[in-house]
Amino acid sequence: MPKLLKKGIILDPRAYFQEEKDILINEEKIIKIADSIEVNELREKYDSSFLDKLEIFELEKNFVLPGLIDLHTHLREPGYEEKETIRTGCEAAAAGGFTQIACMANTKPVADNPATIEFIKSQSRKAAVKVWPVGSITKDMQGENLAEIGFLSKAGVKAISDDGKTVMDSDIMRRAMEYAAGFNMLVIDHCEDLNLVGEGVMNEGYYSTILGLKPIPAAAEEVIIARNIILSELTDCPIHIAHLSTARGVEMVAEAKEKGISITAETTPHHLILTDKAVVGYDPNTRVNPPLRSSEDREALRQGIKEGIIDAVATDHAPHTFEDKLGEFDQAANGISGLDTSLSLLYDRLVDENILNWSELLEAMVYKPAEILKLQEPGIREGKTADLAVFDPDKKWKIESKALKSKGKNTPFLGEKLKGKVKMTLVDGKLVYDNRGGQNEIIY
Ligand code: DOR
Ligand code: ZN
Repeated sequence: MPKLLKKGIILDPRAYFQEEKDILINEEKIIKIADSIEVNELREKYDSSFLDKLEIFELEKNFVLPGLIDLHTHLREPGYEEKETIRTGCEAAAAGGFTQIACMANTKPVADNPATIEFIKSQSRKAAVKVWPVGSITKDMQGENLAEIGFLSKAGVKAISDDGKTVMDSDIMRRAMEYAAGFNMLVIDHCEDLNLVGEGVMNEGYYSTILGLKPIPAAAEEVIIARNIILSELTDCPIHIAHLSTARGVEMVAEAKEKGISITAETTPHHLILTDKAVVGYDPNTRVNPPLRSSEDREALRQGIKEGIIDAVATDHAPHTFEDKLGEFDQAANGISGLDTSLSLLYDRLVDENILNWSELLEAMVYKPAEILKLQEPGIREGKTADLAVFDPDKKWKIESKALKSKGKNTPFLGEKLKGKVKMTLVDGKLVYDNRGGQNEIIY
């Protein structure tokens, strides 16, 4: 169905920025962008069947963004469908303004083989957004033997990661990087020295002391980042640091980049917004891996995004069941459900507060993720694929579990009031999410 989006304010940091334009979409592409596109003038160029089908959307005062791309989500299927399915995770993505997501390999079975990748791809074909499955680095994510990296590449996998766990054996990591480089694949590492973590459950510092919870030092993350930088230099394989959370980590990534090492990094909305102070009250929904860090770390992450040292913001959407998060803090599963709420949270808490600007945010949530995963170049220009999100910056709403499309209601932001909500999401020119009347609807 052709579509005409009227009077939206385009926010594309590399094309039109803060410009009110009309956008004409046909099939999966943006075919025209102009100050004003009138139906009458379309009559000259298109036949009546086109015009009869044309849907018009009045978008005054709403922003039109390029569809967000999430480098890091957990869709849980196969194996943990009680936490999330590919269908529900993609619905959450669409409701959050994402049009493409990369899903991590810690499913059951682990995505260490082409058959599991094919299964994820076939389920994804029926889903609301585009899915890029990440394969694992090691078989069954046990850290002992390499996964079938060549076969994974053949199956269309663009990146490998044992995310959720570090590859602790540095020799295995070296071999993985040598293989991956040969297949032009990205290696994404979850950086956490398990010996330094021990039985830790939250960031080491003032709050772990007063709360009496076992600590995880920042060094646990930093030691593995350092190792990965050294191995990237040795193997000439690009390395991507998942959910970077410490100030020292940001410094190390900056130094490595200066040296010309092929390193990229992401951080998460929760690490940019919260600190370990949020754990006061022992809410199991604040338990996440890596843990929420100090306010100095948070400041360094914000600065890292501003300076482009940290390339991307990725949700690390980690849905869990109510039972997984029930009980005491140190018994709870790690993770925060994030796809539904990330954009609204980042807008309300950071952009609207002048901590980050739209341009920085969209570089980190659209362009850089596309570059890192070597996807088609996104953007709101004529000829581009119509992957778009419409965002209403004035819409006030409250995060309630029933409003979340994800099965995972595990977010520390439950009950918070926000300004700014996704109104529509288009994937390949098709409306997949519609909240114009507040109906919060996914369209298949
Ligand atoms: O908090 C987390 N949850 N961090 C991870 O690295 C894994 C994830 C999960 O799979 O639940
Ligand atoms: Zn993760």
